[in-house]
Parts: sequence; C-alpha cells; structure tokens
Amino acid sequence: MDNQVPHFQFNTTANKNSIFDSFLTAKKINIKNNNIFVGDNLDIMSDLFFLNAYKNSVSFIYIDPPYNTFNNFSYNDSMKSEEWNDFMEKRILASYSLMLERGCIFISIDDNEYANLKIICDKIFGKNNFIGTFITKQSQRSNTKLINVVHEYVVCYAKNIKKVNQFKISRMDIPSDANMIKKLYSDVKICLEKNGYNAASKYLKELVKKYCEEYGITWLINYNNLSEDGKIYFAKDLSTPGNPRTVDIPSIGLHLEPLHSRGWSSDSKFLELFNNNRLVYKDGRPYSVTYLEESEDNAPSMLNFYSRFGTNDLKKLGIDGLFDTPKPVDMIKYFIRLVAKKDDIILDYFAGSGTTGQAVLELNNDLDLNLSVALIQIDEEICKKTKVYKKCIEIGIKPNLINILSHRLKTFCYNRNIDYSFKIYKK
Ligand SMILES: C[S@@+](CC[C@H](N)C(=O)[O-])C[C@H]1O[C@@H](n2cnc3c(N)ncnc32)[C@H](O)[C@@H]1O
Repeated sequence: MDNQVPHFQFNTTANKNSIFDSFLTAKKINIKNNNIFVGDNLDIMSDLFFLNAYKNSVSFIYIDPPYNTFNNFSYNDSMKSEEWNDFMEKRILASYSLMLERGCIFISIDDNEYANLKIICDKIFGKNNFIGTFITKQSQRSNTKLINVVHEYVVCYAKNIKKVNQFKISRMDIPSDANMIKKLYSDVKICLEKNGYNAASKYLKELVKKYCEEYGITWLINYNNLSEDGKIYFAKDLSTPGNPRTVDIPSIGLHLEPLHSRGWSSDSKFLELFNNNRLVYKDGRPYSVTYLEESEDNAPSMLNFYSRFGTNDLKKLGIDGLFDTPKPVDMIKYFIRLVAKKDDIILDYFAGSGTTGQAVLELNNDLDLNLSVALIQIDEEICKKTKVYKKCIEIGIKPNLINILSHRLKTFCYNRNIDYSFKIYKK
C-alpha cells in the first residue's frame, strides 16, 4: 500500500566516503537481494515496509548485541541492566515474527547478561524451544581478578523446535575429530605401503579398537574396513526390519535369497548405491559404503572458535583494526550451515562490521548456495578517542559504523572478485 512505502530509501551511487548520499524512493524491498538497513533495529523491524517484506521469511538469525561490558568500544556498550533487558526483549520479540516456523536464532553473549538473555528468550520462544548454548573461546583476559574467563556463549532457540532439522556436522569440520581421522589414515597408509593390503586391513581393525579406547569414543568402531585403494569405510548392513523377500536386479547382477526373519532394502536403494559406487560385497552379502571422512555427528556444544579469529579475518582483508569486536566469519558460517537451506534468508540486526554478510557471500561463492542476507546497523558515529576512529581517518572513510560495514563488504568483494550486490536502505 502506497501510504506505507516512503519510510525507506536506497542509494544507487555510493561513493567512497558516504554510501547514502544519493537517494531514490524505494517502492518495494526484494528480500532475495542482499540488503543493508540503516537505522535502529527495533525501528526498522517494526516498520511495515520492512515487516511486509520479511515477515515469516527468515530461516536463520545471528545477532551479536552489545554485551553491556561498560568497555570503551567504538560503539555504546553501557546500559543499566533493566534497560538492557528492555532493549533486548523488544528487539528479539520484533525479530520473532520475521522467522520461518523452522527458523532458528543464534545470539552471542558473555557472562554479563547471559542469565538475563536466557530469561528473555524463554519468555519469547518458550522454554521448550531452547536448542542449547554453544561455548566459544576467547583469548585469555589478563584483567580478571578471580577467574580467567576464556569463553563466551552463543544461545540458540528455535521458533518451533519440532520443525528444525537435526544439527548435523561433518566430523572433518570438528577439529579434534578431523585430527584423529587424519592420524588414523596416516598410520594405515604407512602400513599399506610397507606391508601390503592384507596386513593394513588387519592393522586397521586393531587401530580402530585402540583409538576408541584412547579417545574415549564408540562411533569409530564401525569404520574398520579398508578399500583396495586405501580408503577407510563403514560397511552398513542392508537388511531391514520387515518381511523376508527375494531381490532380483539382473541389470546390476544382484540376486539375493530371502533372509530368515528380515527384509532387504528396496530395489531403488540397491540401484542408487550401485550407481554411486557405494555397494560392496562381503562373503556374498551386500553392504553400503560410508567413508570415514564423510561421517557426521550432531553439532558439539563446545566450539573451537576464538574471538581473535574475527580480528584476523579483518587483517586478511587488509583492514586490521577497523572494528573492535568482529566475530569469526567461520563461526557464523558454521551456524548457518547447521540450519539454512540453499535459498534461505539470513538476518543479522546488530551487523557491526558485517561479518554475517561476509559469511553469506563466502558460503554462496564456495558452496554454490543462493542465500540472501539482510543486515541492520544503526548509523552510529565512532567515538573519537578510539583506535577505530584513527583507522577510519587513516584509510579515508568517515568514522561511522555504516561506512565501516560497507567498506568491509566492498573490500571483501573486491578481493574475491565478487560483485558487490548490497542495496542500502535508510529509514
Ligand atoms: C558487538 S557489535 C556486532 C559485531 C558484529 N557481530 C561483527 O562481527 O562485526 C554490536 C553492533 O550493534 C550495533 N547496534 C547497537 N545498537 C543497535 C541498534 N539499536 N540498532 C542497530 N544496531 C545497533 C552497534 O553499533 C554495533 O555495531
């Protein structure tokens, strides 16, 4: 409706110093674009122009609100506790209506406001929609008096937990598992090269038992088969509960007599496995193949992401020090991959330096996804006495957060040779 429209405007001709210096009146927001919204996040999320576009559309929200640490950051990080509660509750509630039924929200926080945040979220989402709290790492702090706090939290809630897919993660993305898998492969390879296939195959069985004991795990026990070309795999039995039946698929030379009291997987399953080269026979019986490096696990709650990785991400872009507390790009990519499907919409309404924007661009580019991202960031000036202020002056951008955000994303796109596709809307 026309009377709801002219709240936002977007620029077309961004220049280096000011990104919303030229405005046109926007008619409609295309949520399949990458969009940056300039303004207070509550104001924006409550605006009908925004709401009509994004309502019930977002599958993944990541936010990294001010932790209320009273530190002298380039953005305001000091509120009274009740004030912070009120501030957060209104915003999380506003974002609730933007989420799909299967949508999830991930919220970074530390000890200062963890307890309050949990109460607020329980109230908005319901306790039963609490998915869990991830623990992430941060560099040791020297200024703590009693405990050296080396962790932060990411609190995770679903809009409707029943609609959320399992949080599966490749073991190769879990550093401790990945190291173990690589070590096992290397031990077996040495034996294979030295003593041949039969010896290596036997050695693998011994090693798997030993690793299970040493690492205190059980899942590895099934990965005790070696292929001729040295790959370690789990051979999964293809019988199923159900009525015994004969399998006869001449096109792939498969004939199986009925079992005593169990059925066989469907013909289409056998065909699919055969076509994908995932069918093996042991003593005349067929099994499906899952290679060790493809194994998955539920996402663990303790994660190996250090907050300083975020600082390194800016360094890699050549804009070291342009923001105080950037989160690691890989951490946000990790969370997005737990939840989002190929064409989903991602939202971050405390965008800061735009880490979530970069995470989405990287995923689209590297994994051939088609995600869209909406970033909301207040047009906050940078405090004069900070390093970030100096850095802005040094690289020639006006010291405010919107310029930092757009400069980071433009730099990333430029470095990776990706089109800078963000549209900027200002309230
Ligand atoms: C902790 S930082 C987020 C950092 C971000 N995750 C990153 O990796 O760069 C919080 C950001 O929220 C912004 N912010 C604070 N209040 C806001 C509000 N009401 N609306 C929009 N943005 C806000 C601050 O300016 C700051 O940039």
